[in-house]
Amino acid sequence: MTSKEFQKIIKHGIPDKLPGVRTYDVTLNHAPKRKDILSHEEKKLAVKNALRYFPKKFHAVLAKEFAEELKTYGRIYMYRFRPDYKIYARPIGEYPFKSKQAGAIMHMLSNNLDYAVAQHPHELITYGGNGAVFQNWAQYLLTMKYLATMTDEQTLVMYSGHPLGIFPSHKDAPRIVVTNGMMIPNYSKQDDWEKFNALGVTQYGQMTAGSFMYIGPQGIVHGTTITILNAGRKISKGEPDLAGKVFVSSGLGGMSGAQPKAAVIAGAIAVIAEINPKATHTRHSQGWVDEVFSDLDKLIARIDIARNKKEAVSLAYQGNIVDLWEKFAEKNIKIELGSDQTSLHNPFAGGYYPAGISFEEGKKMLAENPAQFKTEVQKSLVRQVTAINKLVSQGMYFFDYGNAFLLEAGRAGADLFLPSLVLGEGLGVRYKYLSYVQDIMGPMCFDFGFGPFRWVCTSADPKDLETTDKIAIKVLETIYKKAPEEIKQQLADNIHWIKEAQKNKLVVGSRARILYADAEGRIKIAKAFNDAIRKKKISAPVVLGRDHHDVSGTDSPFRETANIYDGSQFTADMAVQNFVGDAFRGATWVSLHNGGGVGWGEVINGGFGLVLDGTKDSERRLKSMLFWDVNNGIARRSWARNKEAIFAIEREMKRTKNLKVTLPNTVDEKILDTLL
Ligand SMILES: NC(=O)c1ccc[n+]([C@@H]2O[C@H](COP(=O)([O-])OP(=O)(O)OC[C@H]3O[C@@H](n4cnc5c(N)ncnc54)[C@H](O)[C@@H]3O)[C@@H](O)[C@H]2O)c1
Repeated sequence: MTSKEFQKIIKHGIPDKLPGVRTYDVTLNHAPKRKDILSHEEKKLAVKNALRYFPKKFHAVLAKEFAEELKTYGRIYMYRFRPDYKIYARPIGEYPFKSKQAGAIMHMLSNNLDYAVAQHPHELITYGGNGAVFQNWAQYLLTMKYLATMTDEQTLVMYSGHPLGIFPSHKDAPRIVVTNGMMIPNYSKQDDWEKFNALGVTQYGQMTAGSFMYIGPQGIVHGTTITILNAGRKISKGEPDLAGKVFVSSGLGGMSGAQPKAAVIAGAIAVIAEINPKATHTRHSQGWVDEVFSDLDKLIARIDIARNKKEAVSLAYQGNIVDLWEKFAEKNIKIELGSDQTSLHNPFAGGYYPAGISFEEGKKMLAENPAQFKTEVQKSLVRQVTAINKLVSQGMYFFDYGNAFLLEAGRAGADLFLPSLVLGEGLGVRYKYLSYVQDIMGPMCFDFGFGPFRWVCTSADPKDLETTDKIAIKVLETIYKKAPEEIKQQLADNIHWIKEAQKNKLVVGSRARILYADAEGRIKIAKAFNDAIRKKKISAPVVLGRDHHDVSGTDSPFRETANIYDGSQFTADMAVQNFVGDAFRGATWVSLHNGGGVGWGEVINGGFGLVLDGTKDSERRLKSMLFWDVNNGIARRSWARNKEAIFAIEREMKRTKNLKVTLPNTVDEKILDTLL
């Protein structure tokens, strides 16, 4: 297909003539069949809803087809409308657009649906099993058409993948405002997602899937490396590094698949269990897993060798994580670090497979007897925790890795709880183990403002990425020289990371880079990129963004805000304020999501995209928006009495005259002890 034909199709949107029926491509990874949850009348409503996108003349044919899709897959994806052209992050100039900002968004959005990047591309799922970019292909076609035709005086409004329309606005307004999964709070349980997603009126956007900010595996490899490195520092007791130490976890999927690679970068021995042979094969053939074992005794013998030689190596166990933990517990194997990264944000719909039955039997049970499947999942979680508890009693450090493991295992009745501080479900619950944010990422990174800043070169040219890497290193090294002791380690880790980034070959899809930086680092790097674009040292606009999993972007009591202890961890003001504040300070697009990471109803998170095009307008926007985007969260964390955040916001107030943050007064605990 020529570039002209591609542009014509994009501008056309939904075709006038019915495209041919698509065959189901069995060579691709597909979303599992979703729960059959709608009543007879609701199924009719789902089909009626889907038909809204099409002219009447198609209805007789499509109604039948959509009803069949709903029956077979539990959702209406409108497979027939999947375009013929290859979807990937093309150089920005290949897209048709009137607004360069909209062109940059098309580049980002397309990356989320690239076959090399997305987990279930035909179901428009980027990662995490249900992290959707759109609910169906009609939404994709319409959105691309709107982006191709809109101007810088318009804003596209998106409700959970559905493009509501383009509305008049102004050049400083966001080009897109995205909301995903926003529900009336009482309708935000897991089955509500199943039901309202099947009806076609909402979706689970995960964090970076439905916000067009996913950059492939690099983001998660970097985040996991930083986490494992810092976890290693926590347990090191004077030993210099992770050499010869064993890290055990589960999952070789979209995000979890980063664990073996990251652990090896951090110098450890990784042992990761994976139940799905396809997922194991993918990571093994990619070189992220060095060796695969299905015999536990052989695996244990191999661990011994690696430990003695202090090898940095990744070993996969093809099987259920419960079997792995139970074997290690039975044989008293020494494990230094433990975690879990099965998809427990989605525990009873295929995110976690129960022990005692094969993967195939598990899938069958899920489709035919979901109630029994749920019981088996809960039994497995209890067994898993029992084995983990034994290894912890022998010295292992276990942490929850942001997948709702403690939450779901606790709900299943596992032996996990310390006495509650306050009665009531959720409130004041204390687990025996901490989440990685409570112990590692919160105090070491987020409270200082360090979080996953990223950028994408819309030229798709590796040379531009190389230029941006060099600029970022220079900026960070300059900051490092004058940085206070408290943040030197984080800066050093990230300077090292970016120097090694090309060697680690983590670019899949768009030309993207990630590193952890604070407000000062993010603003200075962005300003330097903008200058370089103006001077034509970078050939096309650069998109800035971040993971929602950040300082200010996410309110999630068992993850990003797990180290907030004033009760406000169950509120979502910070994330909502962040989204709104970014929108009026110059973001090119903003997004607000229910769900992401730990699951529907458990988290509110938001993010942004900011297009740098070398202009003064870009410079004004980046300074204003990035400052707020980080300092909002630090201010909130400092109000929650987090000492690292108080340090960071006081430092910022000294630098920034217009900033006045309400600081907490400390209370003498003795006054409280005798009070009630
Ligand atoms: N901490 C973070 O920064 C972070 C980041 C991203 C995702 N997450 C969370 O981590 C989880 C995993 O994300 P993902 O994208 O890898 O999901 P995924 O569904 O792609 O991968 C999970 C893998 O676990 C495997 N699995 C399920 N049950 C198993 C069992 N009993 N034994 C062995 N393997 C089993 C699955 O087959 C799957 O391959 C999600 O809940 C996600 O929200 C955390």
